[in-house]
Amino acid sequence: MQDPKRFTITAALPYTNGPVHIGHLAGVYVPADIYARFLRLNNKDVAFVCGSDEHGVPITLKAKKEGITPQQVVDKYHAIIKKAFKDFGITFDNYSRTSAKIHHETASDFFKNLYENGKFIEETSAQLYDEEAGQFLADRFVIGTCPKCGNEESYGDQCENCGTSHNATDLINPKSAITGNIPSLKETKHWYLPLNEYQDWLNEWIVEGHKNDWKTNVLGQVKSWTTDGLKPRAVTRDLDWGIPVPIDGAEGKVLYVWFDAPIGYISSTKEWAKREGKDWEPYWKGQNTKLVHFIGKDNIVFHCIIFPSMLKADGNYILPTNVPANEFLNLEGDKISTSKNWAVWLHEYLEDFPEKQDVLRYVLTANAPETKDNDFTWKDFQARNNNELVAIFGNFINRVVVLTNKYYDGKVPPKGDFSEVDTETLKKLNEYPQIISNSIERYRFREALSELMNLARLGNKYLADEEPWKQIKINPERVETIMFVALQIASALATLSEPFLPFTSNKLKTILRLNESGGTTDVVISVSKEIATTQKNESRKDVLGWDDVALNHELIPAGHQIGKAELLFSKIEDADVQKQIDKLEATKIENKVFVAEPQKDTIEFDDFTKLDIRIGTILEATKIPKTKKLLQLKVDVGIDVRTIVSGIAESFKPEDIIGQKVSVLVNLAPRKLRGVESQGMILMADTPNGKLVFIEPEGEVSNGESVS
Ligand code: 2FM
Ligand code: ZN
Repeated sequence: MQDPKRFTITAALPYTNGPVHIGHLAGVYVPADIYARFLRLNNKDVAFVCGSDEHGVPITLKAKKEGITPQQVVDKYHAIIKKAFKDFGITFDNYSRTSAKIHHETASDFFKNLYENGKFIEETSAQLYDEEAGQFLADRFVIGTCPKCGNEESYGDQCENCGTSHNATDLINPKSAITGNIPSLKETKHWYLPLNEYQDWLNEWIVEGHKNDWKTNVLGQVKSWTTDGLKPRAVTRDLDWGIPVPIDGAEGKVLYVWFDAPIGYISSTKEWAKREGKDWEPYWKGQNTKLVHFIGKDNIVFHCIIFPSMLKADGNYILPTNVPANEFLNLEGDKISTSKNWAVWLHEYLEDFPEKQDVLRYVLTANAPETKDNDFTWKDFQARNNNELVAIFGNFINRVVVLTNKYYDGKVPPKGDFSEVDTETLKKLNEYPQIISNSIERYRFREALSELMNLARLGNKYLADEEPWKQIKINPERVETIMFVALQIASALATLSEPFLPFTSNKLKTILRLNESGGTTDVVISVSKEIATTQKNESRKDVLGWDDVALNHELIPAGHQIGKAELLFSKIEDADVQKQIDKLEATKIENKVFVAEPQKDTIEFDDFTKLDIRIGTILEATKIPKTKKLLQLKVDVGIDVRTIVSGIAESFKPEDIIGQKVSVLVNLAPRKLRGVESQGMILMADTPNGKLVFIEPEGEVSNGESVS
């Protein structure tokens, strides 16, 4: 599409069964927001929509686990998620929820329309059923072995290991996620979308038609599914949480969450249009509308196969122009996991790093999992803040603002004759909007951000080469021009950084008094007035747009008063990141508590009766010299007092365990340890943090009593 008239940008609707974390932000919401902000700065007509995905099994499971209703679960997390997005400056035009009335109506109508036009297959078949729970098992209610890759923990609808989407009955050795039971089969009627009928069309449209402009990870997945052959897919479920199937004979059934969720994009657009007094239809049906879905790689099948087939079946909708799916972000080398609490939660990040939203946006973009899975580490976070944001961007701005205030009381000086370096520098500056656009338009946000930093580098180099602080004594007139040029670069940075670092951009615009709230900007407004009347969207607040940087040398004119210097970024200390690393270490330990070692080989009862375990009391304890772990103990085990060498020195001081009741394996064959004969073994529990704990009797038990 050459010059789209409008843009509909969607960001995957997050499941409302937990808060959002850095993986969500890096994979979907920051890139989508950069794209939307970039388009708005270019005066494009944009609808950027999202909302909470409030149906589906994970929410029901969470409710069961917490003993509350699914509605309570979604109400809680919808509020937390919505706030987190707002706090991180994600500028959705609308953030809706799939429990909203408008969504229920839109999804029901969509289904009814396909039903009435004969687009579904109606089929009664045997489905997995949990007798104990009294319910059918689909999607995440069932776990089993993936028929494609052999992953033993695949869900009923999708394998998280290989990404394959399947039906629950395809799983090998299925088990109920509710009771752990092996399910039986029970007949039930459902409506299927015959994806097989869309296979050739999908192949032609995506695999052939978009082979040059869609990401290779997306094309690869689509190709693999179409090569395997698509099968009809049930779009209804036997559940009580979801949107009721709106036809007769479907009582007790709801729409499959992946049928209703993407329709959420449409209902969110409707909600927005209604509020803004606009017509929603061109955003979903207008031929020169560019529809872009921002998602993570686990959502590719739904956005490239199932949803497009639904839209095609309807026949009135446009199809996505692109689906720039990202890979996954790991955390300190391990997969981010909500259930294991292995994550950096956005709301918690802000408690520890208030007002550092842009630092996280920056790090997640600089290290975005665009072409492969990437790793977030706190050390990298610190290094990128200190060595890039503080040392490059912040340093340049600080020098410019401090010197302008020092030499000219904060008034932009007049420019004199430009030297060759000045002209060259300003020419390069004018090229940046195009350079950055080229990357953003190809969804290469890492590259775009690194170009933005190159502009800051250009500024630093310019100042370092021109040395205004030295020139001021020798040639003060020249310094006026140097500072004029440097201020143009600072203003360009204020504008071009907005999609990536919106809080910083705003702060910088306030320091430079470039925004409306910043004060005297009359002259600047007049500089860009022509563009303002011909191209600008009236509702836009910024004074300078993207193109101004390309077209204008005078982004900030002589005589313009700027504000005082304020640091844009501050250093992050070792202790700040160590605290985060310690937090994750603690999570690892907590998780270990629940991961029991696999059971050892079975033994016979006779083997067990051979063990003679008695209660004893430690009478003496001394450290065995030149060892780290060994204590030599004297233990009264009722039958005698004996010497036992025990590897517990790292967990206890000798003086602290005198009188400690213990369980002792007394008939273990004696063995010599560091020259001392040990006549038994103290039984200990091993805890995840490496500390040992005594297995001691509760209550009054005499030495020598048996443990069995
Ligand atoms: O993976 C997820 O978190 C899903 N809730 C995404 C849904 S995207 C859409 F289609 F609504
Ligand atoms: Zn698999």
